Amino acid sequence: MYETINMRFVLATANEHKVKEIKDLLHDADLLARPKQVGDIPETADSLLGNARIKAQAVLQITKEASIADDTGLEVDFLNGAPGVYSARFAGKDATAEQNRTKLLESMVLAKTQPQRTARFRTVVFVAFPNGKQIYTQGTVEGFIATCSLGDDGFGYDSLFIPTEGDGRTFAQMSLEEKQQISHRAKAFRSLKKILIEEHIL
Ligand code: IMP
Repeated sequence: MYETINMRFVLATANEHKVKEIKDLLHDADLLARPKQVGDIPETADSLLGNARIKAQAVLQITKEASIADDTGLEVDFLNGAPGVYSARFAGKDATAEQNRTKLLESMVLAKTQPQRTARFRTVVFVAFPNGKQIYTQGTVEGFIATCSLGDDGFGYDSLFIPTEGDGRTFAQMSLEEKQQISHRAKAFRSLKKILIEEHIL
């Protein structure tokens, strides 16, 4: 019989929507939202894994506690995978979510049919432990880009993304529970949870 370790994890994100989703997905874990002393961590890598690793290691270095970071990109096939790792800055360095959505819709005016508008969200989750151990997982959800913003819930590109596994509504038209059934972030965190349980950390 193994004892579980019952470790606390510090989240690298300060985005309240993401914190809410992560707390819901890892509700058995002891989670602390990013403390003020950490501040914003520049995402300088050119991959989701690279950025997730940078963020988790920065938080570990400051707090000395196990840290969980995630990085997400929206990959649009018509745009050859863009905005991808640059999703947060698609319309410029300090772009708002609305500016990013507007730029996405404008970039896709020539993609008239649904098959031309296929896309996926990809999330990479990276956990850095004080003993040097590292775990990372990934989750994706396939879908397509709507021709206008639909729905008020969610954040980021949610109002433009219609998951193929759904019923035609965008993520922003779904409840949190509905989004958590199928989302990229939920899949990545469920894989992480499975590993943490298998390794008796949860
Ligand atoms: P981040 O890596 O989680 O900071 O996300 C990068 C970009 O993707 C930001 O513009 C977010 O708003 C957007 N984004 C991340 N996760 C989601 C999501 O679940 N739905 C919609 N947009 C998201």
